Amino acid sequence: MNDFNELAGEYIVIKALENGVTIIGLTRGRDTKFHHSEKLDKGEVMVAQFTQHTSAIKIRGRAEVMTKHGNLRTDQV
Ligand code: TRP
Repeated sequence: MNDFNELAGEYIVIKALENGVTIIGLTRGRDTKFHHSEKLDKGEVMVAQFTQHTSAIKIRGRAEVMTKHGNLRTDQV
């Protein structure tokens, strides 16, 4: 359970750099399905956490993503 909390408890921060940025939560486990989506407009920020239901997060659109692994922009080449 400690391992699970270390992995699953992680927060990330997503800042939209344009209108209509979409954040999609993907299910944990054998199946990988969309289970939630959230739209952000320019300047909006979402603080999101990996949980027992969410093991991956997909981001569409121009955004800045901040994690413990570093910061990146989705439009960087
Ligand atoms: N359901 C998959 C899982 O829990 C979701 C997932 C996590 C995934 N990381 C991934 C799917 C990387 C593709 C690639 O493992």
